[in-house]
Amino acid sequence: MQFAFTDDQLALQKTVREFAERRVKPLAHEIDKKARYPQELVAEMAELGLMGMEVDVDYGGSGFDAISYVIAMEEISAACASTGVIMSVNNSLVCHPLKTFGSDAQKKEWLTPLAMGEKLGCFMLSEPEAGSDAAAQRTVAERVDGGYVINGVKNWITNGPQADIGILQCMTDKSKGHRGISTFIIDMKDKGVEAGPKDDKLGIRGSHSCQIFFTDHFVPDARMLGSEGSGFKVAMSTLDAGRIGIAAQALGIGKGAFEAAARYAGDRKTFGKPIIQHQAIGFMLADMETELDAARLLTYRAADLKQRGERHTKESAMCKLMASEVANKVAKDAVQIFGGNGYVTEYPVERAFRDAKITEIYEGTSEIQRVVIAASILKSIST
Ligand code: CAA
Repeated sequence: MQFAFTDDQLALQKTVREFAERRVKPLAHEIDKKARYPQELVAEMAELGLMGMEVDVDYGGSGFDAISYVIAMEEISAACASTGVIMSVNNSLVCHPLKTFGSDAQKKEWLTPLAMGEKLGCFMLSEPEAGSDAAAQRTVAERVDGGYVINGVKNWITNGPQADIGILQCMTDKSKGHRGISTFIIDMKDKGVEAGPKDDKLGIRGSHSCQIFFTDHFVPDARMLGSEGSGFKVAMSTLDAGRIGIAAQALGIGKGAFEAAARYAGDRKTFGKPIIQHQAIGFMLADMETELDAARLLTYRAADLKQRGERHTKESAMCKLMASEVANKVAKDAVQIFGGNGYVTEYPVERAFRDAKITEIYEGTSEIQRVVIAASILKSIST
């Protein structure tokens, strides 16, 4: 077991941290205030190779490992959580399933422009009546000559308003339950695919989500990803990867809030000394850093398993659960340390407090992560 980054990982961390400080952080307040999609930052992240980090260079990616992806996601999200999730959806929920389940032709046509950051992706699993219960979806793909015709509606689709390419899960055979779900690659600008108005959200306001409506949308056979009926497994294993990305986003939100609170506690004086020297605040900061580090190590472990090609369903759920709950606690305590200043939008911890909440909800709520972990415990004691 090694607890040290490689030289390449250290170099990446330095580059991304510098970019996040210089370009992302100064825009984060305005992005949040105006709920503005940060187009220019997405383009600059593409230039840095951050939109298809784990994709091979042959398919337009930058060929980094899974730990490097966590490192980069944390740095970007520490500066701006909205920018972080745009990157994470493209990497883990779109590039990852195309890389894992796509044919060579599909990778050339669809993965390459996504990994290069020329196009943006979204992942369409949830529906108005199927969030946590992902197998209860109703969107239907009906077999026709040469392909399928799709009808239905998808909900809370991150990157939906901007996406060029989508990964869609829908029912090809309702009678088979989750074994009747299949995955398709969708050209989001094609006929019969329409984005609804963007959601007005509590946090991550620069990352846009919306409903996506499918009306008699034709998809040719060549756009099925994986085999017919394998869609639920494609979705679940994609989420195993995605949850590592959201854990890293949560770590970034927590890190940003912690660092701001530590600096503030060193400057702000009450009763004749910096507030960090009051035990109540010093202990709070000690817990914040300790818990963030614990969540970070869980996240690196899940990424390491993924990198080695081992099953990491439980470990992904554990790191996502822990990192998202720690991020919320850290952001709440950071607001407390800032006192009145923490409650106004002038300081970044107010934004961190709002941004952190979604990490306990999307890509599986904390309750779903506990379901996944408990199912794994049950399996281990039954075998
Ligand atoms: N990898 C591969 N296969 C898996 C798997 C995994 N991680 N998890 C389950 N499966 C397989 C099972 O082995 C089983 O296979 P068989 O058909 O061969 O038996 C099959 O899938 C069904 O498994 P379950 O019986 O466990 O399925 P379930 O219906 O009880 O659901 C669940 C399990 C964990 C609750 C799942 O529904 C789930 O993860 N729900 C949460 C969905 C979610 O995270 N949504 C987020 C939307 S995406 C998003 O948020 C994106 C964004 O905008 C940022």
